[in-house]
Amino acid sequence: MNSLNVIILAAGLGKRMLSDQPKVLHLLAGKPLLKHILATVKSLNPQKIYVVYGHQGDMLREAFQNEPILWVEQSEQLGSGHAVLEVLPFLEDNEPTLILYADMPLISQKTLERLLEKANNRNISWLTAFMENPTGFGRIVRDWDHKPLAIVEEKDATETQKQIKETNTGVCVIPSNLLKRWLPHIKNDNSQGEYYLTDLLEMAAKDLVPVMTAQPETTIETFGVNNKAQLAFLERELQRQLAQQYMQEGLILLDPTRFDVRGDLTFGKDVVMDINVIIEGKVTIGNNCTIGANVVLRNVTIADYVVIKPNCVIEDAILESHCVIGPFAHIRPETVIKEHAKVGNFVEIKKSEIGACSKANHLSYVGDAIVGKNVNIGAGTITCNYDGVKKHQTIIEDNAFIGSCSQLIAPIKIGEGATIGAGSTITMDTPKQKLTLSRARQVTIENWERPKKKIQD
Ligand code: UD1
Ligand code: CA
Repeated sequence: MNSLNVIILAAGLGKRMLSDQPKVLHLLAGKPLLKHILATVKSLNPQKIYVVYGHQGDMLREAFQNEPILWVEQSEQLGSGHAVLEVLPFLEDNEPTLILYADMPLISQKTLERLLEKANNRNISWLTAFMENPTGFGRIVRDWDHKPLAIVEEKDATETQKQIKETNTGVCVIPSNLLKRWLPHIKNDNSQGEYYLTDLLEMAAKDLVPVMTAQPETTIETFGVNNKAQLAFLERELQRQLAQQYMQEGLILLDPTRFDVRGDLTFGKDVVMDINVIIEGKVTIGNNCTIGANVVLRNVTIADYVVIKPNCVIEDAILESHCVIGPFAHIRPETVIKEHAKVGNFVEIKKSEIGACSKANHLSYVGDAIVGKNVNIGAGTITCNYDGVKKHQTIIEDNAFIGSCSQLIAPIKIGEGATIGAGSTITMDTPKQKLTLSRARQVTIENWERPKKKIQD
């Protein structure tokens, strides 16, 4: 279809979400609800995408500023039919118009294509779904000849109509000239006092305009998000689908039900993930990598043969090949760990570069540092990078050896091959290849006695 227009309705109050945020900004797999349906719609290459919004328009525009959306305001939420009415002045005659609800994030391209195949400029097409438990959905009422007659909202349905298992998904295709003919005439004489878009089906039947119906690939695609429980339900479903997709693409997930992707993941061959790995933002993983249990990766680029042991949080970082991280490491933004480097347990690294083959194996804080190759950072080493006002840099040159429990007061430079004695507080640059240490000499006090506790009688 070459001149398809799409209207996405997103103006509803979302009352049942009990939230101050617009419903469509709630996150599903780390992305706003609207983003999901938008991606599917874009895959159809429509001519124009209108999004009808009601509240917090600035927030919405900002969240979707790079998207090809034509925003239309519905200042009063008088119902889904009224929402489409607001777009009418912008629509040209004789264009098929696909109407969708923004709160239906899992609808697939295939399903929409199925519906669009049936649509032309002289009919209307409605996506309906058969459900064992249709509670909450509008029902499709058909005549003796099985022709669709009307959609009845649950709140307006008789007991007999509530038995109907064919439901309105909310997705339909209607030529714009017919929208213009019918929409100004819909009424709000229903239990909610709203102008229902669904009344158009009855109008089409009365005008003898053919009503086509199609069904989705899977029913779950048509489930909407009206409350937090439904949001959580769809989150699980989407995570299940993503895990299946990644496994098809070769990812080894030790338990696909304990894996969450809230962003975009790409990976190479033979990548193994243990349980409870959380992927956020843009994460790229090379070949032959192992990610241990309970690891959070947020905007991380990982090369080949990297091992991340359990319980690490790694954010905005680059891990080069063969490096080994964790367990219990915290790698913070703007960090690069070069090839074959090791970052061990209870080590925090921030805005630093750790050179190839260097090691910080235990209990250290390395911040605002440039660490060369083959450096050994002993247990308990701290780069004292903050003077209370400003951050300062620590430079540790190649082959340096920092003894355990040293404090390096930045700005400072440890020369190439230098050794720092354990327990030193280093306040000045240290020369290459030499041993530098700063600690009081050890003394032993002769004849000293430990105070004794008085024995009480
Ligand atoms: C709607 C359908 C129902 C269907 C169900 C499927 C109507 C009248 N009912 O019910 O038949 O089974 O979806 O999930 O359409 N909206 C506006 N402006 C408004 C009111 C609503 O833009 O003034 C938008 C909402 O943001 C939402 C959509 O229209 O995207 C549907 O509204 P909602 O209140 O969620 O309708 P449901 O009760 O779920
Ligand atoms: Ca809904």
